[in-house]
Amino acid sequence: MMVIIAQLSDPHITTGAQGDDSVERLSRGLECVRALDRSPDCVVITGDLADGGRRQEYEAVRSLIADFPVPVHLTTGNHDDPRGLAEVFGGTGVLGGAREARYAVDYPSFTLVALDSHVSGSPGGRLGADQIAWLGEVLARRPDVPAVVCVHHPPVAVGVPYLDGMGMEDAAEFAGVIAGHRNVVRVLAGHVHRAVVADFAGTTLTTAPSTHTQIGFTTGEEIPALYPDPASFLLHLIDGPSAGTHTLPIPSA
Ligand SMILES: [Fe+2]
Repeated sequence: MMVIIAQLSDPHITTGAQGDDSVERLSRGLECVRALDRSPDCVVITGDLADGGRRQEYEAVRSLIADFPVPVHLTTGNHDDPRGLAEVFGGTGVLGGAREARYAVDYPSFTLVALDSHVSGSPGGRLGADQIAWLGEVLARRPDVPAVVCVHHPPVAVGVPYLDGMGMEDAAEFAGVIAGHRNVVRVLAGHVHRAVVADFAGTTLTTAPSTHTQIGFTTGEEIPALYPDPASFLLHLIDGPSAGTHTLPIPSA
């Protein structure tokens, strides 16, 4: 039976005095997932959930996903606060029952792994040796079951200098572990607010656009253009060891 995973990213939720249309925009993205004629097996939102890492922002995310008909999983981004995320979602299915931002969920037909690449005070990311070792152990547990690894910072350069200046510090060590586990069918990232597909360590890396703000393409050193639409999300279709990815639009208001 084919597995379907919906990937949304970078909602940058703001609330209260700082609030903008971020809640409404994530809500619209989730509505598009809900409207699919076949429900996905789960939804992943790959980081930058809370623009300011504030508790009220995580509570807003909790309200948005509270009644969602399929499991929703979250990863941390550079804008997030892993402790704040764990305070609001720890012990629930959102974090696979864990009380920290790195966790794994053993679905019968796939393994979902969420990594925490947040580095306090930095826009760039790092996994650290402990987490990379833990990832290896998780991937070795069910070597014949397809695995999907979710992490905010893409471990490859995407060709936009502004974005590549805040990449993942220990991407080479991460690649070393992924390359040793042939069951990894996708690495799902966010951070760049663009849809990018890249080869990575013998598997395929995809980055999902943001529900909130798109980042323009440029090979120059300047800060790229930012614009809200067209927002979109990714739908990963995993059929045994092979996988395909669709990019689906989220209509503007
Ligand atoms: Fe972001």
